[in-house]
Amino acid sequence: MPSDISTTYLGLKLSNPFMAGASPLADHLDTVRKLEDAGCAAIVLHSLFEEQITQATTGRIHQMDPLDQQFAGIVSYFPQSDAYPLSPDAYLEHLHRVKAAVKIPVIGSLNGTAPEDWLKSARLLEAAGADAIELNIYAVITDPNESALNVENNLRQAVADVKAELKIPIAVKLTPFFTAFGHLARELDRAGADGLVLFNRFLQPDIDIRHMAIWPRLELSDSTELLLRLQWLAILHGRLHCSLAATGGVASPTDGIKAILAGAHAVQMVSAILRHGASHFSLMRNELRQWMDAQQFGSLDEVRGRLSLARTADPSAFERAQYVRTLNDWSTLIAYQAYQRTHDDDDPQTPPS
Ligand SMILES: Cc1cc2nc3c(=O)[nH]c(=O)nc-3n(C[C@H](O)[C@H](O)[C@H](O)COP(=O)(O)O)c2cc1C
Repeated sequence: MPSDISTTYLGLKLSNPFMAGASPLADHLDTVRKLEDAGCAAIVLHSLFEEQITQATTGRIHQMDPLDQQFAGIVSYFPQSDAYPLSPDAYLEHLHRVKAAVKIPVIGSLNGTAPEDWLKSARLLEAAGADAIELNIYAVITDPNESALNVENNLRQAVADVKAELKIPIAVKLTPFFTAFGHLARELDRAGADGLVLFNRFLQPDIDIRHMAIWPRLELSDSTELLLRLQWLAILHGRLHCSLAATGGVASPTDGIKAILAGAHAVQMVSAILRHGASHFSLMRNELRQWMDAQQFGSLDEVRGRLSLARTADPSAFERAQYVRTLNDWSTLIAYQAYQRTHDDDDPQTPPS
């Protein structure tokens, strides 16, 4: 019997754990069909943004009227409504079409900053046929008066509000930048989240020293980004009712297997698919199955969380002891060797006279 690689994510049965994360990958129906044919198990549409929704419904962005002189500057930094790939109405129409084009689950994505009226759009996504909604509450808190508690309460409220609107499941896509991430995860689980998606990439602006300007940077990821995800999947596995998905840095079948060993029910991919095309899903699926056969695992349930904090023989691997040990070993041995290699040929410096 070949290994069973099916999984359940957000209560949805998936043929395998590998799915397309929120991105333009679902913008064209022919790509969506290719993804499904290659074995992509579910697909998340690109996000519908709070700013788009409120611009269309109230003419405002974050309660600011673009015609009001005092806000005109700030509001002008957001895209004009016609600069988004799809208007809110067109997004619903597109969702409906994607849903009709494929059999795999189709997940709509809402992206915003605060638990306000725009979240009611979740109901429209549900009515358009979404199998689930991924909620991405992404705010960069620059106001020193805003407390961590307030940010977390807003997030919890957003989850509870959306949950109250819907019959379909919701996943919450999070950044890792919370002081006590485990506590927040449990609170969101209690507020009704059906899944957590770890982690949003935090897009940091770069500085251009030639033009003395700040510019946004969006680069495709690689496997180095995966480790943070593995750590938190492993810490949370078995401690929440909701499912867990990995997003960020899954580039190869080995990365995908690691995410499942850490505790992921589903593994989202964007950068690798943009780089290699839809057929990368076939590779992911085939290599997972071969690896499970070789390791004699009958089902994905046997693999998931096998190297999580709850199940590892060495829990200190996830905690401070490991941090201290690693820094200590590294600095005493490798750093010294690296220093020696770099400086062995140095000419003795003549001190300036
Ligand atoms: C071009 C592009 C567009 C994206 N658009 C969205 C989006 O609309 N909503 C969202 O939540 N994430 C979006 N993301 C983030 C991805 O869903 C994903 O979390 C991130 O790229 C990390 O996964 P990866 O390492 O597999 O690329 C986008 C990423 C890329 C590269």
